[in-house]
Formats: sequence, C-alpha cells, structure tokens
Amino acid sequence: MTILVTHCRQVNVAKVCRFRQHFRQSVDFMSCNSLKLSSSNMSKRKVFVTRPDVPAAGLNMLKERFDVSTWSEERPVPREELVKQVQGKDALFCMLTDKIDKELLDNAGKHLKVIGTMSVGYDHIDVAEVRSRGIRIGYTPDVLTDAVAELTIALLLATSRRLFEGHQQILDGKWSAWAPTWMCGVELKHSTVGIVGFGRIGQGVARRLNGFSVNRILYSGRYEKPEGKEIGATHVSFDDLVSESDFIIVTCALTPETKEMFNDAVFAKMKQNVIFINTSRGGVVDQPALQRALENRTILAAGLDVTTPEPLPPTHPLLQLKNCVIVPHIGSATTWTRGEMCILTARNIIAALDDKPMPAEVL
Ligand code: DGY
Repeated sequence: MTILVTHCRQVNVAKVCRFRQHFRQSVDFMSCNSLKLSSSNMSKRKVFVTRPDVPAAGLNMLKERFDVSTWSEERPVPREELVKQVQGKDALFCMLTDKIDKELLDNAGKHLKVIGTMSVGYDHIDVAEVRSRGIRIGYTPDVLTDAVAELTIALLLATSRRLFEGHQQILDGKWSAWAPTWMCGVELKHSTVGIVGFGRIGQGVARRLNGFSVNRILYSGRYEKPEGKEIGATHVSFDDLVSESDFIIVTCALTPETKEMFNDAVFAKMKQNVIFINTSRGGVVDQPALQRALENRTILAAGLDVTTPEPLPPTHPLLQLKNCVIVPHIGSATTWTRGEMCILTARNIIAALDDKPMPAEVL
C-alpha cells in the first residue's frame, strides 16, 4: 500500500510534467517539486505517536503512508502536550501511560478515527467514551503472551527462591559460607498454583507450570474454559482459589470488577505461606493492604511487575521489604515482542484508516 501511495504521487507529478513537455512548455525543477509537496500534503492523513522511541519497523510502516509526528522526548508525553498534539489528527498511536479520556477526545476534533495502543491492556482508555464517538481502538493481544508468561515465571522463581535477597546478601558481605538452612525458599513441585485471569497470558503461565511438576493448577473466573481441561487446570470459585493455593498469580485485566480485588479480607483468607505474583495491573491490588500482609507475614512473599503508582518511587516502603520482589513493568519487554507490538499497532491504525477490519480491535 505504501509503495502504491508514493508511486501514485510520483505518477501524478510525472504525468503533469510529461503533459507540459508535450506542449513544449518548460517546467523547471522547482515548480515540479512544489507540486509534489502540495499533492503529498493534501493526501496524507495525520498520525500522532506519543513517543519517539518506538521500534522502527512499525513506525516506518506509518511514515510511508501518513504524515507522522511524534512527541520528541523519551518519556511519556506531558498531558498538555498530548491534548495539543492530538488536535486535527486522524490517528493516535499511544502507550499505556497515556490517559485517553473525554477531555482529550473533545480536543482531538472530528478527524480522529482510530486509537492504537501499543499494549494489550487498555484500562488507560475510556472505551465507552471513545466508542460513543465512533472512534475505533486497536490493541496488541497474542504477540506479547509468551514474553509476559515467561516474565511471570521468572518473577515466581525470583520470589520463591529469594534471588534478589540472595544477591543483596552478597553485596552486603553476608555470604560467609554454605549453610544448611540459609536462604531457603519454597518449591513449586507438588504445590497448588491459583491463576486469577485465565486468558491468553494466564493459560501461557499454566502451560509453563506443567514443566515444574506442580500438584494442581486452579483458575477462577465466571466460566469454565475449554483450555482448562487440555492444560490440566481446574475451575474453582475465587474463594476456593484464594484459600487453597500456595502460589497465587494474577494475570487478569484491570476493570471496575477487578479493581483492588486483593484487599485485607482476601489476603486474610490466604495460606500463611502463600506467594503472591502480579503481572497484570497495580490497580488490581489494594497496595497498602498488600504491604500490611507482607509486613505482618499474613503471606510469605510477593513478586510484582506492576504497582501503583508507576514508576514506584525508590523510597517506597514496599521496596524496603525483603519478601517483596519488584520489577519495573517489564512483562512484555523483549526486543522481539516490543517490535511485534509496534508493528501490530501500526497495522491496526493502517487498517482503520483504510476502513478495513483491524487485526486486533477492541470490540
Ligand atoms: C500491556 O501491554 O498491557 C502490558 O502491561 C505491557 O507490558
């Protein structure tokens, strides 16, 4: 498509030039060039990308077809700038750090046709408000499933085998000699693992867990899923999952129903030696309640890829706890996955601007 548009423009310019030549009119380079400029400006739709550091493959797909502008700094675009930049754009390529709400949409104007978020989660978008204006939303499921599932397992092992704590012991000069009970953790083998959010990522985690000889994999949710049987996971109520699991892994989306679903009452129902892992969104957890549960040893440990707020300030009390492992929202952060997420976002935007079915549309 890209080649076509560029080609078309050149053909039009060339046609005009040939036509003029035919009538022995002289066309100087400048006039031909200015014709090229105005013709391209007229036809190109405008896309705003909220960061300059998105992988090139996806960005170039957009640049070949559209008039693309990007926020200039490698940090989330400030709100005032985003509100300003979205005006008159046909498409917005955004991140999970950009809040898409009524105010922003009011400013965008009537041209805005599609919002493509380079994320699978879209809790930063007021979906109802966007839909009410007939604007389409693209997101990036599937391409990041394996990366997030792998990171979840990494976090699970880092927490249960106390990897960060052990590393810190070395730095603090506390590694004296091998000792029989020093730095002991817990094993996944023979354990019960509960997964809250048995979608693509939750199932990816469950499949990987089968390699660790766990005893049972439980999942909760409104419905039993056909993949559960195939993976060997059992559908149970949320309460049963919470009280029976040795490891609880959260991979669900943040919605009004899941917001702060892990609160004091829920932590109190867990086994005392439970390890709690969250790779979904910080908002699913009542974070002060988690902190209390870790401090009081209501639960054994937690591993978090997501927090409230993000970034978590380095002085945050959760970071002082030995039994809490935190990584900076890097679930999908592999070079391949981020590249694919960017390409899929670009494909979503291109499809929507062409009035075609999007590869991954929030419906
Ligand atoms: C997403 O895409 O929503 C993930 O949280 C990114 O890691």
